Amino acid sequence: MPKLQLWGYRCERCGHDWLPREQEQEPRVCPKCKSPYWNQPRRALRQTQSAYKISQAHFISVEDYAAGYPAETVGHSLLVHADCFDWLSDIPEDSLHAIVTDPPYGVKEYEQEQLTKRKNGSGGIWRIPPSFDGSVRAPLPRFTALNERERVQLSHFFQKWAELSYRALRPGGHILIASNAFLSQLVFSALVAKGLEFRGEIIRLVRTFRGGDRPKNAEEEFPQVSSLPRSCYEPWGLFRKPMPRNMTVSQCLRKFGTGGLRRPHPEQPFSDVITSERTSQVEREIANHPSLKPQSFMRQLVHAVLPLGSGIIADPFMGSGSTVAAAEAMQLQCIGVERHLEYYELSKRAIPQLARLSVARILDSEPAQLTLQM
Ligand SMILES: C[S@@+](CC[C@H](N)C(=O)[O-])C[C@H]1O[C@@H](n2cnc3c(N)ncnc32)[C@H](O)[C@@H]1O
Repeated sequence: MPKLQLWGYRCERCGHDWLPREQEQEPRVCPKCKSPYWNQPRRALRQTQSAYKISQAHFISVEDYAAGYPAETVGHSLLVHADCFDWLSDIPEDSLHAIVTDPPYGVKEYEQEQLTKRKNGSGGIWRIPPSFDGSVRAPLPRFTALNERERVQLSHFFQKWAELSYRALRPGGHILIASNAFLSQLVFSALVAKGLEFRGEIIRLVRTFRGGDRPKNAEEEFPQVSSLPRSCYEPWGLFRKPMPRNMTVSQCLRKFGTGGLRRPHPEQPFSDVITSERTSQVEREIANHPSLKPQSFMRQLVHAVLPLGSGIIADPFMGSGSTVAAAEAMQLQCIGVERHLEYYELSKRAIPQLARLSVARILDSEPAQLTLQM
């Protein structure tokens, strides 16, 4: 019997085979996993042994984590221009030691359309907060304006993100995720729903310009009322990918280099309240991003999430790179992923400058974090 030979494609990412409808044009994406890199072998799959031998090499080769996306190294870290949902699916499973990130909260506030509205000062989710002292404020996203449908979307967004982060993290690896007082419950529940352990919150004590306003359009009628409390803290959710069954923290530290949090000083545990400040003008001049976080705070977080002082941190919503800069300043390694080209380009310039800044310690009644050399 004559053999019939069929001609088709195989996806390098998910292994799916298919027959093309048209023979002329190369498919743009894999019909199954939708990867646009279906015809490029996944470089990241060639996991180097060194990625797992943290005790032998302090710095890990991060280039393989580009996973075929445009990327650039900065110091010991890597910047990747990609959608983090794609990137997290493409990197090797169980490979990241920790994630420290500040995600978009309206989900849509970093869509191109909303960023253009922000630039033009023409509405959208960004609004100018009320002035308490007469000086002009930068626009903030209006999270309270999310309707029920958008809250469900937000929950799905974080569930999907949690699933992918779970896959990419090593057992015992921690996530620190920025939030705010009225969305944290929704976001943290989404992460728990996908199997991550809730390990508490790190409270960044900072006065922002959120909340405290009198009821809208009735300010004079109800001068004694605030519709929301004035925000004086920022909660960062602390999560951990479960350790293998019956494994202790010490065994996890030995095997995966994860499971615990690094102390700022041998005599002081990492504490869950950190007195902070608004991002300084100097930092904002270096990196003009609407959600730039201060180095004085970020350096304490990146230090804490690598218990043995070695391994790979990722910031999948990098923005202008304050997490990566903090890691660089603390002699650690981080991979920053950013989807918006303008911010990706900005991060390349900003990270070395932010990392070089010497950061004043904030003196207060909470000494636990203050012994850290920054
Ligand atoms: C809240 S900002 C983080 C800013 C950061 N804290 C900094 O200091 O610059 C969130 C960032 O995530 C980016 N982003 C949103 N969705 C993304 C996605 N799916 N993949 C990668 N980046 C994304 C946005 O463009 C934005 O720059």
